[in-house]
Amino acid sequence: MISRETIDEIKNRLDIYDVVSDFVSLKKSGQNYKGLSPFNNEKTPSFFVVPAKGIFKDFSSGKGGDAFTFVMEHEKLSYTEAIRYLAKKYGIEIKEDHRSFETQEQQSERDSLYIFMNFAKEFYQNKLLHTDEGRSIGLSYFRERGFNDRTIEKFELGYALDGWENFSKEAIAKGYNQTLLEKTGLVVKKEDGSSYDRFRGRVIFPVHGLAGKVVAFGARMLGKDKNQPKYINSPETDIYHKSDVLYGLYQAKNAIRQHDVCYLVEGYTDVISMHQADVENVVASSGTALTENQIKLICRFTENITVLFDGDTAGIKAALRGIDMILRGGLNVRVLLFPDGEDPDSFSRKVGTAGFQKYLKEHTQDFVSFKAGLYAKEAAGDPLRKAESIKEIVSSIALIPDPIKRSVYIQETSTLLKISEQVLLAELNKVLIQERRKNEKEKLRAQDVSEPLVPIEDIGSPFKADPLSQIYYQEQETIRLLLNYADQDVEGYKLADFIVHELDDVEFTNEVFKEIYVQFKSAAGRQQPITSQFFLNQENDALKAAVSNLITTRYDISPHWKDKYHIFVPQEKDVLNEMALANVLRLKFRIVQKMMEDNLQQIKQAEEAGNWELLERTLETQTGLKKAESELAGSLGIVIAK
Ligand code: UTP
Ligand code: MN
Repeated sequence: MISRETIDEIKNRLDIYDVVSDFVSLKKSGQNYKGLSPFNNEKTPSFFVVPAKGIFKDFSSGKGGDAFTFVMEHEKLSYTEAIRYLAKKYGIEIKEDHRSFETQEQQSERDSLYIFMNFAKEFYQNKLLHTDEGRSIGLSYFRERGFNDRTIEKFELGYALDGWENFSKEAIAKGYNQTLLEKTGLVVKKEDGSSYDRFRGRVIFPVHGLAGKVVAFGARMLGKDKNQPKYINSPETDIYHKSDVLYGLYQAKNAIRQHDVCYLVEGYTDVISMHQADVENVVASSGTALTENQIKLICRFTENITVLFDGDTAGIKAALRGIDMILRGGLNVRVLLFPDGEDPDSFSRKVGTAGFQKYLKEHTQDFVSFKAGLYAKEAAGDPLRKAESIKEIVSSIALIPDPIKRSVYIQETSTLLKISEQVLLAELNKVLIQERRKNEKEKLRAQDVSEPLVPIEDIGSPFKADPLSQIYYQEQETIRLLLNYADQDVEGYKLADFIVHELDDVEFTNEVFKEIYVQFKSAAGRQQPITSQFFLNQENDALKAAVSNLITTRYDISPHWKDKYHIFVPQEKDVLNEMALANVLRLKFRIVQKMMEDNLQQIKQAEEAGNWELLERTLETQTGLKKAESELAGSLGIVIAK
C-alpha cells in the first residue's frame, strides 16, 4: 500500500498538461488545451485538458478524469502502477504503508508481467556490463558498431549469456514462478515438460512501451550464421502486441513533438545509430509495413512522417505500396533515399553527424512528387507506360483524406508528368467514387448482419421516425436537465457547464429552447449558474410556459418504496452523471441523423445531375456522418449499459 502522504505529494506536484502531453500533442485553446483523442481515431480534436481543474475530458470516447485516471486509461495501468509512474516522473520517493502488504500473487497479471520484464531487462543489462562473457562478446560487438556508453544506457541494451538455463535459473531463484517465465515467452517449454531460455548468446534490444516499460525483446545474433535467424523476438503476450508498438518511440516522442516530424526506418540499429548522430525523432517499423495502430501512435505526436529508404532501387516500388497506408491515415508523407547500398545505420557512421543531418535536410522529398518523378522517367516517350503511371500516382493521391491537399498534388503531378489537370482530375474522381461506393456497400452489408447498433429501445426505433420530432424531444430533455439541475456536479463540472461545453455550438431548432439554451450558454462558467426563477421573471410568455412546464417533476416516487420496503429507487439527481452524458449524446445523435437525411437528398440530386464534384463532396460528408453516428451510438450503448 502506498502511503496517503506520497499520493498527496504527487497530487501537489503534478501538472495535468505535463502528464498528458507526454502522450498527446496538445494545442492551446483559450485557458485550456486540446488535441486528438488518444482513445479514438479522430481527425478533429475533441480531447481537452483543463489545467485549472486538473482534469482532462475526451468527448469522443466519453472518458475523463484527473491525471491518475489519464495514466491508468492510457497506459492500461492499475491505480497503484499509475501512482508509481507519476512518482517516478516527478522524482518523488514512494513511502509504503506496510499494514496490508501485497504479495506477488495478489498483484494483477499485467503487473507481474511488467515487473518480470523489468527484471529480465536488468538481468541482460547486468550480464552485458558485468560478466567476462558479456563484456568480451556483447559489449565489444556494440563497440564495433560504434555504440557509445550513453547509447547503450539509453536503449538499455543487454546480453544473453550463451547457455540453456542461465536466465531461468536466476529467475526461479529470485522467486518468479515458472508460469510467468513461460507467459512472457522468455523461457520456452518443451513437449517433455522441460524448458530452456529463448535468448542465448545474443545481444538484447529491449522494446519499450510509451511509458518506458519494457514489453518485449529483440535478440540479435553475433556474427553471421546462415542457419539461424538474425533476430529472435519476444512472442506476443498480454502486454505486447507487435502491431501496436513502434521501436524507439519512447526515446523519440519528445523530439518528434519538438521537430514536428517523425523519421521511419526499418531496424533497431538504424534507430540507435541515428540517435548517435543527434537525430532522435526516429522510430522503427521492425522490418514490416506500418499498421493502422502504429500510424495512430505517430499521429499523437506529429502529422508529418518521413520514410527513410535503403538505397537499393529494386525494393523501392514495393516499399512505396507500404506507404499507402500512411497516406490513408491522413499524414503528410515525405521520403528520403540513401545512396546505393547504404542504410541509415551505415550512412550515418560513414558521413558523421553533420554530414548526416545535412543529407536529411537536402534529400527529403515529398512523397507524391517523388513517386511522380520516379514514374516520369520510365514513362518518357512510352504512352502505355504513361497511362500506367497516371493510374499508379492517382491511386495514391486518392488515399489522401484532405481534398485540398489532393488538389495541390494533382497540380504538381500535372506539371511533372506533363498531363493536363483535367485528365488527372477525371481519373481521380473515378477512383474516389469507386472507393466510396465500395465503402458504402460494405457498411450496409456489415449493418445487415450485425446486431442493432444501439441497445436501448428509444434509440432503436427512431431510425424510421421523423428526425425533427426526435430532435425536439431531445432538446426539451436537455433544457429540462438544465433548468432542474444546473448547479449539480457532473464529472467534476457543474451540469450547466458540462452540457454547454459538450454541445458548444449546437443550434437548437425550437425557438423557445434555443432562447433558453443561449442564456445558459452565455452564463456558463459563472460561480452561480442561472436558475429557473431567472427565466420565470422574464417577459416572454412562451418561454415562461415552457420553463414552468419543465420544472415540475414528471412523477414522484412513492415514499413507500424506501420507507416500507427498503427498496432504493434511484432518483434523477442520483444518476445525473449518466443522464447528462446520455442526454448530450442523444441530442448529437439525433442531429447527426437529421444531417444524414438532408445530405442524402443532396447525393441523389448530385447523381441525377451528374455533378461529380458535388457527388464526391457529399459522399465524403455522408461517410463522416455515418462514422459519427456509429461512434455516438457506441458511446450511448456504453453509457446506458452501465
Ligand atoms: P535488418 O536486417 O535491417 O536489421 O532488419 P538491422 O536492425 O538493421 O540489423 P543489422 O544492422 O543488420 O544489425 C530490420 C528489422 O527487421 C526485424 C528487426 O526488427 C530488424 O531491426 N528483423 C529482421 C527480425 O525481426 N528478424 C530477422 O531475422 C531480421
Ligand atoms: Mn541494418
